[in-house]
Amino acid sequence: MNNFIFENATKVYFGKGCVKEYLSCKVKPYATVMLAYGGGSIKRNGVYDEVTGILKAAGKNIVEFSGIMANPTYAKVQEGAKLARENHVEMILGIGGGSVMDCCKAVSLAARYAGDIWEDFWAHPGVIDFEPLPLGVIVTVAGTGSECNGGAVITNEEKKVKTGRDYPRLNPQFALLDPTYTYSVPVKQMISGGFDILSHIMETYFSEPNEDNVSDDIMEALMRSVIRNLRAAIRNPEDYTARSNLMWDATMAENRVIKMGKKCDFECHNMEHQLGAYTNCNHGCGLAVLHPVYYRHIYRDGLPKFIRFAENVWGISRDGRSDEALALAGVEALASFIKEIGLPTTLRELGMTDQTVLKEIADSCGISAGSYRKMTHEEILQIFHECFE
Ligand code: NZQ
Ligand code: ZN
Repeated sequence: MNNFIFENATKVYFGKGCVKEYLSCKVKPYATVMLAYGGGSIKRNGVYDEVTGILKAAGKNIVEFSGIMANPTYAKVQEGAKLARENHVEMILGIGGGSVMDCCKAVSLAARYAGDIWEDFWAHPGVIDFEPLPLGVIVTVAGTGSECNGGAVITNEEKKVKTGRDYPRLNPQFALLDPTYTYSVPVKQMISGGFDILSHIMETYFSEPNEDNVSDDIMEALMRSVIRNLRAAIRNPEDYTARSNLMWDATMAENRVIKMGKKCDFECHNMEHQLGAYTNCNHGCGLAVLHPVYYRHIYRDGLPKFIRFAENVWGISRDGRSDEALALAGVEALASFIKEIGLPTTLRELGMTDQTVLKEIADSCGISAGSYRKMTHEEILQIFHECFE
């Protein structure tokens, strides 16, 4: 195994009723709390009333920061930071999915920083040598795992760049995870979030080292869990066991545990982020289109791992297949699963109509140093074309 240092600063409170039980105690030290959320789902499903009721009963001044969009923009971050400064906010409470959590992390940094956080942290990663505003999160959709890491993905619309950074200082101080809060997530978004979880695990699994290591073993169990529980949650969206497992799968995929000793790929994420920067496509849906095509390009370069994937994740037996055929059968099982659960399989289905922009998008993609075969911008363009229809 490669050397590593492990730390995770977020305290997690998991399970039905956890908000009612722990929120007032977690906000105790702060007089003014910024309540940050998205487009209003929390008002429709009762979470807003529950949370504001708890904050008001605890005598907090509430500063509302609403309308955080999917794929949060740098402009929205600046709006939140200004609001936080003007109202002397002492902590941020983000309620939602990855978009809300990521935006809140960036706001927590920007509110305490005089310079331009895009230039100093997102465009050119810098060292955070000050304390961002304390952040707590209440997760309402399983997917990104942003609740338990310092990662935040922000879109700079002007520059047409969507990019993420992971700073340990941006880890939320606490995360409240009540699986029943995810019951109201539309099925399409639940599936997209579920695929994002699977993608995070695959992007880590399909990278060096290939020899026996704890991370790969944990990941095989996690991938089987995501596949099984996503199917169960599609059958019955209020299956508490399935929703609980998916919620914790999401956290486990991105709380850094499985990344220990792994190089990590994340080339599909690089590609999807730039597709998102140009088209504002849904993150999990974009990943679903890209993954099988990308893996058909690289499976020969990571053959032993792709064979393990076929056998240990999809339960495919060799049945006289060659190594290559067995590895490819695993990739095709993934492609069938994507179809089975109703995710898009082409860029056209994602809403793209114009292929001419693909070159510009391909040229803007980051190149991962951890993939089984280092991509070139030409090969990324080829992948995009193969994904088109
Ligand atoms: O905005 P509202 O009205 O709340 O509706 C949201 C939004 O429309 C809805 N939703 C969330 N919880 C709900 C609900 N609707 C009904 N009931 C509920 N309980 O779901 C929609 C999508 O929410 P969003 O937060 O955008 O989804 P997701 O969690 O997939 O986050 C996506 C963002 O996270 C980034 C993505 O790139 C994208 O910008 N990522 C963040 C990562 C990280 N920080 O570590 C890693 C990921 O790879 C990813 O890149
Ligand atoms: Zn993702």
